[in-house]
Amino acid sequence: MPTLETHVDGLTLPNPFIIGSGPPGTNAKVIGMAFEKGWGAVISKTISLDASKVVNVAPRYARMRAQGSREVIGWENIELISDRPFDTWLDEFRQIKATYPRGVLIASIMEEYQKDAWIEIVERTQETGVDAFELNLSCPHGLPERRMGAAMGEDPELVEQVCSWVCQAAKIPVWAKLTPNITHIVDPGRAALRAGCNGLSAINTILSVMGIDLETLRPQPTVEGYSVPGGYSCKAIRPIALRMIMELATMMYGGGSGAPISTDGTSALPGEMPDRSLSAIGGVETGEDAAQFILLGAQTVQVCTGVMIHGYKLIDELCNGLLAFMQKHGFETIDDFRGHSLQFFTTHAELVRRQAEVKAAERAAREGMVTKDTAWEGDKFVEQSDRLVSND
Ligand SMILES: Cc1cc2nc3c(=O)[nH]c(=O)nc-3n(C[C@H](O)[C@H](O)[C@H](O)COP(=O)(O)O)c2cc1C
Repeated sequence: MPTLETHVDGLTLPNPFIIGSGPPGTNAKVIGMAFEKGWGAVISKTISLDASKVVNVAPRYARMRAQGSREVIGWENIELISDRPFDTWLDEFRQIKATYPRGVLIASIMEEYQKDAWIEIVERTQETGVDAFELNLSCPHGLPERRMGAAMGEDPELVEQVCSWVCQAAKIPVWAKLTPNITHIVDPGRAALRAGCNGLSAINTILSVMGIDLETLRPQPTVEGYSVPGGYSCKAIRPIALRMIMELATMMYGGGSGAPISTDGTSALPGEMPDRSLSAIGGVETGEDAAQFILLGAQTVQVCTGVMIHGYKLIDELCNGLLAFMQKHGFETIDDFRGHSLQFFTTHAELVRRQAEVKAAERAAREGMVTKDTAWEGDKFVEQSDRLVSND
């Protein structure tokens, strides 16, 4: 029987499925529910030192459904980080760790661009016994006005600076959560790892405008007739998340079992940070979705919107689906297939070269031309020789 047990940055998770930062990890009650249902770990809703600056609006979500169906495929939010006081969160972290000592609890933290603030939030939060930090360098809306979230995450220099402040103070593993609202996600990823982070998480939501109501002519979600661009999540973003995880994993782990690609597309590049971890996020709702992220190098897989749509019981389907995939292929552990599919990415020039090679071989076979010495046959020897002559 395969095992889903996952080891990452010194932490042991019963399975690789983590509640991603957001409403499903927004207070002690719901975090407790996640542990009861069997989630591998929980990342809290993002917290900051001064919650009084956080003022949410309602409505703050808008959904995209598949044409002609009730199925939700895209989800936009204009929600901010937690509006609950920092001290309340510290009490709840202690309480959760007392009730679920083996539950892996990761605190998502965010601060303004000030060294003292980052050091204070790290030191006071880690005293509660949380197991790791995720740095929110990535929320695309609301907080960039205060130079927080994606405003930091899109600038590799700021990322490196903030991560090095945090890593100086942190005694537990630190993951940097990256924004997809950038052309080259590898640049801030590399900066965070260079500063000492143990791992990367990607992706946060994609900046979006969900739609315009054609009756009122107002953008959605509409608050007193107005709106702002928000963060897009759910299964519609999965292909973008897969691409970004592929890019980050290629930078971190490089070749391995034969992964990408030098400029001629033929040889493997060495990884730059093979000992760091990668947590994938974006549109996961099934074990098969998760398997794809692990095949691209992720150790763990986070789910946020999926829990808002299907509830905490989704963990059963996630585990069963991933186990069924592993059984089908004879994989015993997550590491047996982690990163396996990276080797099949290459350059476009190499695709063209491979296709030309296959076509040439097919043409030779069609025309009965011998291209390998093993193809010579005694009774067709003369005929085969004739076919190889070019100037008759
Ligand atoms: C309503 C909502 C609130 C979120 N709040 C946070 C947050 O506080 N901190 C954070 O790092 N990410 C937050 N996220 C982003 C998610 O953690 C995740 O990165 C993103 O939604 C993509 O994953 P998904 O498709 O599984 O939701 C939020 C997402 C949603 C939908």
